[in-house]
Amino acid sequence: MLLVTGGAGFIGSNFILDWFKQSDEAIVNLDLLTYAGNLQNLASLADDSKHIFVQGDIGNIALLEKLLAQYKPRAIINFAAESHVDRSIHGPEDFIQTNILGTFRLLETVRAYWNELNEQPKAAFRFLHVSTDEVYGSLSANAPAFTETHRYEPSSPYSASKASSDHLVQAYHHTYGLPVLITNCSNNYGPYQFPEKLIPLMIVNALAGEPLPIYGDGLQIRDWLYVTDHCSAIRRVLKAGKQGETYNIGGWNEKPNIEIVKTICTLLEESHPQSNFQNQITYVKDRPGHDVRYAIDARKIERELNWRPLETFETGIRKTIQWYLDNQSWVTDIQTGSYREWVEKNYAHRRK
Ligand code: NAD
Ligand code: DAU
Repeated sequence: MLLVTGGAGFIGSNFILDWFKQSDEAIVNLDLLTYAGNLQNLASLADDSKHIFVQGDIGNIALLEKLLAQYKPRAIINFAAESHVDRSIHGPEDFIQTNILGTFRLLETVRAYWNELNEQPKAAFRFLHVSTDEVYGSLSANAPAFTETHRYEPSSPYSASKASSDHLVQAYHHTYGLPVLITNCSNNYGPYQFPEKLIPLMIVNALAGEPLPIYGDGLQIRDWLYVTDHCSAIRRVLKAGKQGETYNIGGWNEKPNIEIVKTICTLLEESHPQSNFQNQITYVKDRPGHDVRYAIDARKIERELNWRPLETFETGIRKTIQWYLDNQSWVTDIQTGSYREWVEKNYAHRRK
C-alpha cells in the first residue's frame, strides 16, 4: 500500500479520489486536519476499506513509526504542507514547523524503516516529495521557463520552507541513498480547492456579490495546471521516475491574474446572464515581495516519462466553475468563523 500525507487537502484528496479510479491498492492517509484539511472531500470513500484515514502530524515520530510498522507501505507521497503564501507572510511559524521540521522528521523515520526492509522491497521503495515551482523564485517577462536545473531562489516564507524541504529530501538521497523523487509543479486549480487561493476565491466572492480583490496591477503571471493532470503526473513519476531525480510539472498555461479573473466573470455570466461580475473587480494593496512570474518547462517529464496534461485552461476552468456551482454547500461549510477571520486579516488592511 501507499502512505499519503496531507491527503485531506486540495491536491491530496484529488490524488486519492483519482487513485481509486485506476487502482485497488490501499492508501493510508495521514493528515493533521488543519484549516485546509477537509474529510468532506473524501466523503465518497467513507465506506471504502481501502482508504484508511489517520489524523496526525507528519512531525509525530512515534505515530509515524507505528504506521510504518503496521502498514509497511511500498511508497510515501508527501503532500502535507502549509501551502498559502499570504498566510506565510502573516505567520511563518507553522510553515517552518510542518514544511521543514515535519518533512525532516518524516524523512528520518522513513530512513530507519527503509533501512530495515528486505532487499526486494528496499530496492522498490520510493519517497515522493510534492513540491512547487515557487522554489525557483520569480522570472522576468522574457526569461525562459524554469527547468529542473534552475537555481533555487525562493522569496516568501512559504517558498523558502518548501525549498528547505526539497534540499533535505535531496540530502537524504545523496547521503543515505534513500530512493527519493521530487516533483515541482506550477499553480493548480480544480475541485476542492480552499477558497483562499485565487481561482476559488474569485468564484466564491463573485457569486456572493463580494469584491474581487486584485493584488497590485494584476499583471503577475502564473502557469496554471488542472489538478487531475498534476495527479496523473505524480502517478507517472512514482511508477517510472528515476530515483534522486526532480521532475517539473506544468501545463504551458501562463496567464496574468487579471485575465484569469475576467475569464471567471465571463464564464459565470453564462449561468447568471443578469449579472456583471467584472463590476466587482477591486484593485487592492499588493502582496509584499510578490513574485512577478512563474513558468514551468515541462519537457523533461514529457520526454523521459511520456506525460502530458489532458486539460487545457479553457476546459479545466469550465469544469472548475461548474464544480463550485454544483457544490455550494461544500463552500458554505468551509466559511466558518476562522475563514471569516482570515478574510478580515488578509483583506481589511489592503482596502484603498
Ligand atoms: P492544502 O493546503 O490544500 O492541503 C495541505 C494538507 O496538508 C491539508 O489537508 C492539511 O491538513 C495537511 N497538513 C498540514 N500540516 C500537516 C502536518 N503537520 N501533518 C499532516 N498533515 C498536515 O495544500 P495543496 O494545495 O493541496 O498542496 C499540497 C502540496 O502540493 C503542498 O506540499 C504544496 O506545497 C504543493 N503544491 C501545491 C500547489 C498548488 O497550486 N496548490 C502547486 C504545487 C505544489
Ligand atoms: O506556483 C505554485 C504555488 O501556487 C503553490 O506552491 C502554492 O501552494 C499555491 O498557493 C500557489 O501560490 P500563489 O501565491 O501563486 O497562489 P494564490 O492563489 O495565492 O495567488 C495566485 C496569484 O493571484 C498571485 O499572483 C497572487 C494573486 N492574488 C491572490 C489572491 C488570493 C490576488 O491578486 N488576489 C487574491 O485575493
